[in-house]
Amino acid sequence: MKKLTLLGGITPARFLKEYWHKKPLLVRQAIPDFKPLLSREELFALAHQDEAESRLITHFDQHWQFAHGPFAKLPPLRKKEWTLLVQGVNLHHDAADELLQQFRFLPDARLDDLMISYASDGGGVGPHFDSYDVFLLQAHGKRRWQISAQKDLSLVPGMPLKILSHFEAEQEWILEPGDMLYLPPQYAHDGIAIGECMTYSVGFRAPSYQELGEGFLQFLAESIELPGRYADPDARFSSSPAQIGGDMLARVATHLSAIRFDESDIAIFLGEYLSEPKANVFFDPPEKALSGSVFAQRAIKHGIRLSRKTRMLYTAQLVFINGESFRVSRADQNILRQLADNRQLAGSDIRNAGKDVMETFHQWYIDGWVHLASN
Ligand code: SIN
Ligand code: CO
Repeated sequence: MKKLTLLGGITPARFLKEYWHKKPLLVRQAIPDFKPLLSREELFALAHQDEAESRLITHFDQHWQFAHGPFAKLPPLRKKEWTLLVQGVNLHHDAADELLQQFRFLPDARLDDLMISYASDGGGVGPHFDSYDVFLLQAHGKRRWQISAQKDLSLVPGMPLKILSHFEAEQEWILEPGDMLYLPPQYAHDGIAIGECMTYSVGFRAPSYQELGEGFLQFLAESIELPGRYADPDARFSSSPAQIGGDMLARVATHLSAIRFDESDIAIFLGEYLSEPKANVFFDPPEKALSGSVFAQRAIKHGIRLSRKTRMLYTAQLVFINGESFRVSRADQNILRQLADNRQLAGSDIRNAGKDVMETFHQWYIDGWVHLASN
C-alpha cells in the first residue's frame, strides 16, 4: 500500500492500526505549500447563506457566546477572540470536495464533511473534546494546539457550548499552513489562533446506537404489514371493566410478534440512512435537461460524475444513493459500484451499460444527482 505524505509518510493501513481511535498524530507539512482553498471573504459569503450550516463563537470579555447562522454581519476583523465555523464546505466548493476525497482511505460511510473555521487573533472554541475522530489541517495563519489524554471530561455547567472544567494540556504545538493534527474521539484539545487563522476539520460520522435504533424502528414502521383487526368472539363477562384482560394481551402479543426483521432489512435501512443527504442539502438539476437519447450520447462521449452533494454507497446486494436503495442485477453491479467508488465514469465505461442503467443515470441527471463530465 502506498505511503501517504498526508499521513506523514506512513501507509493508511499503519495509520489505522497504530493511530485511528487510539492516539494523536501530528504531521508537519501533510500538504506541502498548502494554500487556503477559499478566501476569508468566500468563507464569510458562505456563512451568509441558508444552505451552509454556520456557527459563531465569541469569547469577548471572558464570556463565551454561541449563535447559529446564517450571519448577515460578523464581528469586525480587528476584534479579538471570535471564531466562525462553516460546516459542509465540501458540498459547496469543488476544491474543498477534492480535499475531502483525499481522506477516502477511510470509508465514505464514516467520512462526514469538511468544516472550515476562521478565527480572529486569540480566537478558539475553548478547551473541549469531540465525540468523533478529527483531522485538523492548518490552512492559513498559525494556531497553537494544546491536547490532553485526560480522563476528566467534566464540562463547565450552564455554558452555551462544551467547555472542559479542568483542562490540563499535556502536549502543545504551533501548527502552520499544511500541518495537520489527527485526534481520536474524546481527546481533550484547545486551539487558539495566533493572529488571524483558518483551520480545516475533516470530520467523521459515528451515529449513536440510540439514533440508529430510533431510525430503524421508523424504517420498520414504514414497511410492516399486519393484516386484520382486533376481535374477540370468545369474549366473556368481566366484573372488573377497567382491567386489560390476559386474553387481550396474549392476542395482541401474538400479532405483534409477527413483526420480524433480519440482517437484510438492517442493510437496507443502514444504506438508506447513511446515504441520506442532510436536511439543508438541495441538488442543482440542469436548467434545460437533455432527453434520454441525447444524454446517453453525451454520457458515452464525455462520461458522468456524481454531484459533490451525492452520497452513494453499496453492499454485496444493494446500491444506495441519496437515501434510496436499489437491488441490482449481477450484470449492472460492476458499473454502479465503479461509479460509487470512483465517483465518476469515463465514456468508455458507459458504452456497454444496459438500458435500465442508462435510464437510471438519465433520471439521476434530471434530479441533479449526476452531471455530464464536461459540465
Ligand atoms: C476550530 O477549528 O476552531 C475548532 C475545531 C475543533 O476543535 O474541533
Ligand atoms: Co474539537
